[in-house]
Amino acid sequence: MAVGIAIHSYRGGTGKSTTTANLAVMLALYGKKVATVDLDLTSPGLHVIYQVSQSMMKVTLNDYVFGRAALEDIVIDLTNQLGLPKGRIYFLGASMKPEEIAKLLKEGYSEQFFREVTKQLGEAYGVDYVIFDTHPGLNEDTLLAVLSSDVSMMMMRMDKQDITGTYVTAQVLRKFNKTSYVVLNMVPPNMAKAVEIRSEVSKLLGVPVIGVVPFYPEILQHRSRGVFILKHPKHQYTLRIKEVAEFIINNIG
Ligand SMILES: Nc1ncnc2c1ncn2[C@@H]1O[C@H](COP(=O)(O)OP(=O)(O)O)[C@@H](O)[C@H]1O
Ligand SMILES: [Mg+2]
Repeated sequence: MAVGIAIHSYRGGTGKSTTTANLAVMLALYGKKVATVDLDLTSPGLHVIYQVSQSMMKVTLNDYVFGRAALEDIVIDLTNQLGLPKGRIYFLGASMKPEEIAKLLKEGYSEQFFREVTKQLGEAYGVDYVIFDTHPGLNEDTLLAVLSSDVSMMMMRMDKQDITGTYVTAQVLRKFNKTSYVVLNMVPPNMAKAVEIRSEVSKLLGVPVIGVVPFYPEILQHRSRGVFILKHPKHQYTLRIKEVAEFIINNIG
């Protein structure tokens, strides 16, 4: 059975797509089969990090949602393109066409959609994890994605606005008995060194912090051109992502 993980954040630009791609690849390097779904339908970006060409995305998630395509038509196997020695990475992309984005936002999708996608990817592709890269905020469709996944992973910067928003989100999720975790991203390096940051933030939010990822200028310089950890396997960033992957393998699914 595949486990659905929704990666989200209260505010934008917290590193959801970057983390989704790098974490998925790290899980694959542990031999896992991982499907990543771009659910940031208003501003999709995962395909850029994966370097998926538009010609490979003629049929997208949008077509599946509206019954114009079967799941197998939209699943892209990136394992070879990424040069992975083991595991598998699948990608389900969202349409970049403005009229498609508008249609989906207007007509929406149901809770059943997420459960169905996760179930089918597990059954037909033997996927272990389905990671949904959502768009920020507590709007209806993101909340739906989060609530219909098995686990929610909130990305947060050490910024007052992020902290306040994540606190509120955590309280909402608690009302739904949702298993939630927090990953701190873009943490100022001096703060990231402090061992107590993890326990302090966990206590503050009432949600376990499962990763502390510092701000590395190299990630920004990389400019979303490919999956960073594959190009820099010994970088500190890679080690931080590894820690999150190990937590997931040992505790989820
Ligand atoms: N730990 C980090 N250190 C430095 N830059 C980062 C880090 N994580 C993400 N970024 C950069 O921040 C920007 C926003 O990240 P992105 O993953 O697109 O966010 P989101 O999907 O939440 O909007 C990107 O340019 C990305 O390369
Ligand atoms: Mg994104």
